[in-house]
Amino acid sequence: MDAIQIYGGNPLKGEVRIQGSKNAVLPILAAALLINGTCEIENCPIISDVHHMLRLLESLCCNTVRNGHTLIIHSENLSECDMPSDSVGVMRSSIMLLGALLSRVGSVSMQYPGGCVIGQRPIDLHLKALRKMGVVIDEREDGFVAQTKGLTGAYHSLPFVSVGATENIILAAVLAKGDTVIDNAAREPEISALCEFLNKAGAKIEGAGSRRILIHGVEKLHEVSYRVPADRIVAGTYLSACLCSGGEVFLDEAPYMQMEAVIDAATHMGAEITRNEDGIRVKCLERRKALSLLCTESYPGFPTDLQSAFLTAMTLADGKSVIKEEIFENRFRIIPELQKMGARITCDGHTAIVEGCDRLKGANLYANELRGGAALVLAGSAADGKTVVFNRHFIERGYEDICSDLRALGVVCGTVEIHD
Ligand code: UD1
Repeated sequence: MDAIQIYGGNPLKGEVRIQGSKNAVLPILAAALLINGTCEIENCPIISDVHHMLRLLESLCCNTVRNGHTLIIHSENLSECDMPSDSVGVMRSSIMLLGALLSRVGSVSMQYPGGCVIGQRPIDLHLKALRKMGVVIDEREDGFVAQTKGLTGAYHSLPFVSVGATENIILAAVLAKGDTVIDNAAREPEISALCEFLNKAGAKIEGAGSRRILIHGVEKLHEVSYRVPADRIVAGTYLSACLCSGGEVFLDEAPYMQMEAVIDAATHMGAEITRNEDGIRVKCLERRKALSLLCTESYPGFPTDLQSAFLTAMTLADGKSVIKEEIFENRFRIIPELQKMGARITCDGHTAIVEGCDRLKGANLYANELRGGAALVLAGSAADGKTVVFNRHFIERGYEDICSDLRALGVVCGTVEIHD
């Protein structure tokens, strides 16, 4: 079985460079389909979700060339094809291709997308919005067929904030006829990155980063080169590693401005956080303090993607902490794993109550999704003795090389294959 082995229990010290953002690059790769030509994407993280997205683009007759962290995508020959179901199945972002593909080729047949097992994650908002823009969708048990004779702009008011639905509407609207308005749009920095990429290619999008986004449809987009911003969730993961283990780390290129809620929560737990123009320094020299209440929210609130990492830090804090998960209904799956290490956590629906303890002890743990898996690696880094986190592949969906990053911070860890 693929695993990560860690000998933990020591404070961290060192510096790590933060990779490009997964959640920014995935919709940008879908947006590359809208460009009838070449686009160059720099600082693209080398992670399995990107690999799957590139496979999907290749299956649509795009040509993709990777040179380290630079990607060149040629979409001139884009055509309707069957997408490989294993790639659609593992990654929810495959739904991002829908808006862009309808715009370019007018017809898409795909199975329902997969992704992390952190809740139901339906796509009803995406489909409802596309129907409003002139798409006929035939839903079947395991997938759907969507067709349009031409996308038209429309007014959308989302009943709740959805990052993916906001992105899909933008992708469908950029080349649609007329204007599109999205009210109650997601404000995540990854939406702003997508709009920045598209505007650089000639799109006319206003209001990215606010609750109302306005898209004026244009005839076509042109070739573009774009650098993917740093990953705020990876930066938050390594910030949490320092919260869990103590010590002092520097997060090179960490996007401070996008991390206000995370920095605020970490500061309340006793971390000392400073920034300079290159990144963020995190210092945790005293025992961390409990947080009376941490709620996940859409941006600019505290991100659900860092809930597991903070939950792990709370297991070692002084006192009782409470976490409320408000976005996904099934995101406490690491609790039984942390309990194996001696963590004292009770969970009632969307709320977890954590009684901090002095030490965690190493154990064999099983990751079952991306961010929870990374949090288990943080737990292993902080725990005494040896920890093995099985199912490394979940973590590799979003982290280029978590072991090498943690080694740069002084953690003794590495990848292992363990046979039964
Ligand atoms: C994106 C991020 C993910 C992050 C999440 C919330 C990417 C690739 N993934 O996921 O890392 O955890 O935002 O910040 O960017 N929902 C519906 N119907 C829909 C769409 C969503 O009910 O049609 C619900 C979801 O089940 C969830 C909530 O809305 O409870 C938010 O989901 P959404 O913001 O759409 O998340 P994703 O875009 O999938």
